[in-house]
Amino acid sequence: MTVTAPQTNAAACILRDPCRTSTDPTVCTRLCPHFIAVHGASGTGGRVAAAAIPADYRQVTVANSVARAEQAKAYAIVDAYVATFDRMFSDGPDADRIKSLYLYSREPGTGKTTTAAAIANTYLVRHYIGSLQRNRRPLERPVYFLDVNEWQTLFNRITLSVGDGAKKSVSDEFQRRMDNAMYAPFAVIDDVGVRSATEAFRSYMHAVINHRVTNRLPTVYTSNVPIEELAQVFDARLADRVWDQCAVVPFVGESKRGMRR
Ligand SMILES: Nc1ncnc2c1ncn2[C@@H]1O[C@H](COP(=O)(O)OP(=O)(O)OP(=O)(O)O)[C@@H](O)[C@H]1O
Ligand SMILES: [Mg+2]
Repeated sequence: MTVTAPQTNAAACILRDPCRTSTDPTVCTRLCPHFIAVHGASGTGGRVAAAAIPADYRQVTVANSVARAEQAKAYAIVDAYVATFDRMFSDGPDADRIKSLYLYSREPGTGKTTTAAAIANTYLVRHYIGSLQRNRRPLERPVYFLDVNEWQTLFNRITLSVGDGAKKSVSDEFQRRMDNAMYAPFAVIDDVGVRSATEAFRSYMHAVINHRVTNRLPTVYTSNVPIEELAQVFDARLADRVWDQCAVVPFVGESKRGMRR
């Protein structure tokens, strides 16, 4: 007789590790209100979808990241960093704010985006659980992941779109992403150093980053451009302010892209 395993979402829920009931298949189901809150009733919505973390990186955490062993020094910084996330609930002075990180390697494929997504997922989980513990309603979008390359592609499509309707829908999407990246309490700006950016596109990037640094909103940047060279991408004043608020986390070694995960 074949025994069918109980249908659970255990492997697919980002709350699995911290959740005390995730090993109980009668409780850990798609009907769990917390599963629905973070993944939506369909499993593809909720706060995880609102955060826009790319599908490949949606389940990665700081603890299970494939980059962890190879990038031990970086992860020592990342571990200390995520330990400061409880500050999101304190209204303490500036010194107690959550800082920003700049994940850098000249070499591509070293695990920067993976790590940024892991940090963002960790923030999302902490925000969700910490809010409930304080009897507060978790925000719908505490975290937002801006893929700068995709955002730039949208920007280029605005000019290429034919017809007012098409133009408007692409530019609305561009604007939506911009607003999310500006206002989310915590954001990833993935590939901040894109060198091919036009002056016009750069001004939008500038607006997003300027708003975040001015309001001291914690941000994880990933980049293949050394932070000292950011002044060539943005103006020197903004680059200085990014530098001011950031700890640089170097990623070492050669590209791991294409390796089995
Ligand atoms: N140490 C590792 N071991 C195995 N696979 C890894 C490791 N680091 C990264 N990867 C894999 O390599 C691929 C590229 O990783 P990721 O996108 O995080 O790199 P990146 O540093 O952001 O690259 P880029 O500079 O091109 O943006 C991913 O599929 C990831 O899972
Ligand atoms: Mg990357």
